[in-house]
Amino acid sequence: MTPYAPGAPDTPAPAAAPPAWWREAVVYQVYPRSFADGNGDGMGDLPGVRGRLPYLKELGVDALWLNPFYASPQADAGYDVADHRAVEPVLGTLADAEGLIRDAHALGLRVIVDLVPNHSSERHEWFRRAVEEGPGSPYRDRYHFRPGKGEEGELPPNDWTSVFAGPAWTRTRNPDGTPGDWYLHLFAPEQPDFDWDHPAVREDFHAILRFWLDRGVDGFRVDVAQGLVKAEGLPDIGRTDQRRMLGTEATPYWDQDGVHEIYRSWRRILDAYPGERMAVAEAWVPTPERTALYVRPDELHQAFDFDLMGVSWDAGEIRRVVDTSLETGRTVGSSATWVLSNHDTCRHATRFAGPQTGGEPPRAGDRALGLRRARAATLLMLALPGSAYLYQGEELGLPEVTDLPDEVRQDPSFVRSGKTDGFRDGCRVPMPWTVAGPSYGFGTGGSWLPQPEDWGQLSVEAQTGDPDSTLELYRAALALRRRHPGLGAGDTVAWDDAPDGALVLRRPGFVCTANTADRALTILVPGRPLLASSPVETAEGAPGTEFSLPPHTTVWWTTT
Ligand code: BGC
Repeated sequence: MTPYAPGAPDTPAPAAAPPAWWREAVVYQVYPRSFADGNGDGMGDLPGVRGRLPYLKELGVDALWLNPFYASPQADAGYDVADHRAVEPVLGTLADAEGLIRDAHALGLRVIVDLVPNHSSERHEWFRRAVEEGPGSPYRDRYHFRPGKGEEGELPPNDWTSVFAGPAWTRTRNPDGTPGDWYLHLFAPEQPDFDWDHPAVREDFHAILRFWLDRGVDGFRVDVAQGLVKAEGLPDIGRTDQRRMLGTEATPYWDQDGVHEIYRSWRRILDAYPGERMAVAEAWVPTPERTALYVRPDELHQAFDFDLMGVSWDAGEIRRVVDTSLETGRTVGSSATWVLSNHDTCRHATRFAGPQTGGEPPRAGDRALGLRRARAATLLMLALPGSAYLYQGEELGLPEVTDLPDEVRQDPSFVRSGKTDGFRDGCRVPMPWTVAGPSYGFGTGGSWLPQPEDWGQLSVEAQTGDPDSTLELYRAALALRRRHPGLGAGDTVAWDDAPDGALVLRRPGFVCTANTADRALTILVPGRPLLASSPVETAEGAPGTEFSLPPHTTVWWTTT
């Protein structure tokens, strides 16, 4: 299969090489289970995604990132991979995946796929054999099996807890039925951690990379990139509050220096393929400086800037986070990788709907306010240098669904935490495409998570052509970003003086002004208005005259 190569083969080479595509790309995250259902079984699938590629093209994104669609019992929505080279039958076939990549390329869209290297499914052949064959099996050392502590080995080997609650160890039974060793799983028990000291693990992931690169994928999103290597001896931590993905304290299982050698070996593989293949790390690490290590020139290309996803709607905080991310990125020559929402986090239209709720379950809050701030936040993000990742449905302004009944929730963390955590289903409710009809156009056979009754009013059909809709705002912003050279480029921003609560961010030929306060703020007109996240007075004052920037609003201006 041919890699995606923009431009005709005989296009003359430009004087200076343009920056690599991913540095400024807008990437749309497709959660295949919830995007579009091609066969009417209530679960989204690859044919569904394939059929909707023209929508993504028209939206104006550069690439899509697909969450895992590999063979998997779905104990963690596909992040429990049984076979990285096969497609989960519920989601399609390998031919569907290949067809999707081909069609995306034909439309000029790049394709990034998920890679899950920290753990496999308990149904992975290696793990099944490791358990079935018992101690002595050559597959044992590809995972972390250890004898338990206590007289009868009845206690876990160390005090690590799973990100999904409960101990990070599960005890096995020996083939003769007696209690056996324990195995490590930093996530659900169905997700045993690989032991990356084993050469077979390293080699297999090299082969998996090649398998998908040969099928034309343009990149990989590396799941739990900070987790692969564990500290020698798996030492106790001595603390019980270890469950957060993001922590400021070092742990013996996150962000060990040994991971970098793995990424250097992957970079060599990616570089050996034509067409600027790339990888983006999901790396929750203590500091921006530690994040920068993952994107050194010989490692991965991008790492999500999760700090922006964590900000409150506050000008000072946003500016601090942007400056820090850009500054640390510059130390290693990487570009920023912004994100406001994803499949693990409360949607930003709801996050901004009320006071920040920390680790508490998301609440509906003031929905209109949340959406207004979310639209402003998105325009601000899209004005920053670097690449931006959008999560499916945010272009419709979808809120988090906060009232899903317990019995439909599938997030493994929900059950394991005694229903006190694990509210990720709320951002995974299937997309509404049409105003009416079964599952609002998601498919013909219902939807695996119930959609709220007003979902039709938020659908693609309802918003298309409505100039005030969030969908048309995204379309306009992405079209401008394409047309406006300089937006997304480079690694610096200049901040003009601005009243408290406002941001005035200058880029070549362009200014972005944002008001995070709940009252209008006066700024000076910096140029000609291009786009606003909420209605603004149309008065196009001369540059330098006063302009009243409404609350919770971002306006883009051209200065050329
Ligand atoms: C993914 C999650 C997943 C976890 C375990 C992540 O960070 O984004 O959805 O549950 O890794 O694979």
